[in-house]
Amino acid sequence: ATPPLASLVDRQPNAGGPAMGLFTVTKKATTPFEGQKPGTSGLRKKVTVFQQPHYLQNFVQSTFNALPAEEVKGATIVVSGDGRYFSKDAVQIITKMAAANGARRVWVGLNSLMSTPAVSAVIRERVGADGSKATGAFILTASHNPGGPTEDFGIKYNMGNGGPAPESVTDKIFSNTTTISEYLIAEDLPDVDISVVGVTSFSGPEGPFDVDVFDSSVDYIKLMKTIFDFEAIKKLLSSPKFTFCYDALHGVAGAYAKHIFVEELGADESALLNCVPKEDFGGGHPDPNLTYAKELVERMGLGKSSSNVEPPEFGAAADGDADRNMILGKRFFVTPSDSVAIIAANAVQSIPYFASGLKGVARSMPTSAALDVVAKNLNLKFFEVPTGWKFFGNLMDAGMCSICGEESFGTGSDHIREKDGIWAVLAWLSILAFKNKDNLEGDNKLVSVEDIVRQHWATYGRHYYTRYDYENVDAGAAKELMANLVSMQSSLSDVNKLIKDIRSDVSEVVAADEFEYKDPVDGSVSKHQGIRYLFGDGSRLVFRLSGTGSVGATIRVYIEQYEKDSSKTGRDSQDALAPLVDVALKLSKMQEYTGRSAPTVIT
Ligand code: G6P
Ligand code: ZN
Repeated sequence: ATPPLASLVDRQPNAGGPAMGLFTVTKKATTPFEGQKPGTSGLRKKVTVFQQPHYLQNFVQSTFNALPAEEVKGATIVVSGDGRYFSKDAVQIITKMAAANGARRVWVGLNSLMSTPAVSAVIRERVGADGSKATGAFILTASHNPGGPTEDFGIKYNMGNGGPAPESVTDKIFSNTTTISEYLIAEDLPDVDISVVGVTSFSGPEGPFDVDVFDSSVDYIKLMKTIFDFEAIKKLLSSPKFTFCYDALHGVAGAYAKHIFVEELGADESALLNCVPKEDFGGGHPDPNLTYAKELVERMGLGKSSSNVEPPEFGAAADGDADRNMILGKRFFVTPSDSVAIIAANAVQSIPYFASGLKGVARSMPTSAALDVVAKNLNLKFFEVPTGWKFFGNLMDAGMCSICGEESFGTGSDHIREKDGIWAVLAWLSILAFKNKDNLEGDNKLVSVEDIVRQHWATYGRHYYTRYDYENVDAGAAKELMANLVSMQSSLSDVNKLIKDIRSDVSEVVAADEFEYKDPVDGSVSKHQGIRYLFGDGSRLVFRLSGTGSVGATIRVYIEQYEKDSSKTGRDSQDALAPLVDVALKLSKMQEYTGRSAPTVIT
């Protein structure tokens, strides 16, 4: 009989010890599950779907089978995520499958926690005690979707450059899931205690196998220190004149926030809201926007209940896996499209990593053109890519892009290959620190977030911008609505007649298409990336179906209008956009197709 293996495990802090735990490899027969097609950011389904026997295993084996053999045999694979419900089980399953498939080691975040940007940083930067480097990562997250036994779980694979697997790989994974008949697993490998830092060594048919549990905030902070001037930010955060608030929405950002903002940068602990990571995100929806980050929105003076307490100067929130960010000033919301433009406009002066200039900037198609204007003014290379962070990765790997962002609350740079919520906060704090370096002592008034944004609009013009989301709409109805919008594009004169009847104060549509992108690096073409109606005055209407939902369909309508006249850049954005919104909803027959008289979320 086999001895109880757990007792043979050799656990040593930070060192690969002599291999003692012996395991064997089992081939399990399985049959395909329908619908394991990874979306924009991996496979996302209800936890109950993932809990079906073999469901996760099929996807993991299909991923291993989609990779070149040398990226599996002898590989170092990162396995971790935002800590949502089912993550701990998933870590153990994937570890056993990695062992059985011949990996040399897995790297696991303490308590299975590792933010998506930290995974990217770990792949790119971490060097194991024996000089090992990660080959790829399974990231366990459904990002901003709620978590818990009846909510969502997700998994995606990132490559050796730290970025999400390209379509060529995810297509292969999907096709493997449709034909899979067996998977490999080391069933007798004992569960490893992932609540303690240290290396546990085992031995299998192909030699040694280690499980290395570590605190990734150490690696992440090390990287941040190579980018930002921590001393300058510390002066700002510890000044009694500056007040700060960070809301992790009980996501994984909480595992980094205290180390960075309190211990490294001197913020008060009371600045941290919801910074204890929870498997169900405290029952909330971990998406940093004005609807779901309620507590922060109230604290920043943007909520409905008016409190007498003076709001902080600066507030920010993150999503479940900490790659998204929302930036707020006192009683002031910064749109993500403006945020990336402002960071790009100020990066060279304020952030040491960019001191020698920007290689280029990029945004996703539905993101407002605020960044375009900055690029033009500063004579920077500029790219417009489809929605999804992976498109930026190619540009960055080719040295063509330094800073990029999306309207969906994602901002980042070429320090890693994912968007980075905490990076965005540190970028804003750097800009504030730079603009206020002479204001922190004495009577000078601080330059506020709102001042910075209004000054930016005065210089570059303002892109009024709003997004309407219709969540969990009948998938068939959503498809029909989109098909109708595409078919209307064949006759712009008919479209313009319709528009004139809806609102006479809106300019004419001069072009309409479905966005298509040819990657300048690898030449690949992505079609059907969103329906565009472009107006003579530079306004745009964009319609897209979300690629990240898990039930029904989500229709997104993006509405944008450019105002160059600096005397007109201070209007309320919903007021300024009312005519275009009217056109968007009537042109698309939103209510007729979906039965919805109002969107689920407006940002
Ligand atoms: C994820 C991706 C982003 C993308 C977003 C779009 O967050 O990482 O790059 O912008 O999804 O989501 P959607 O629901 O609009 O497809
Ligand atoms: Zn996310």
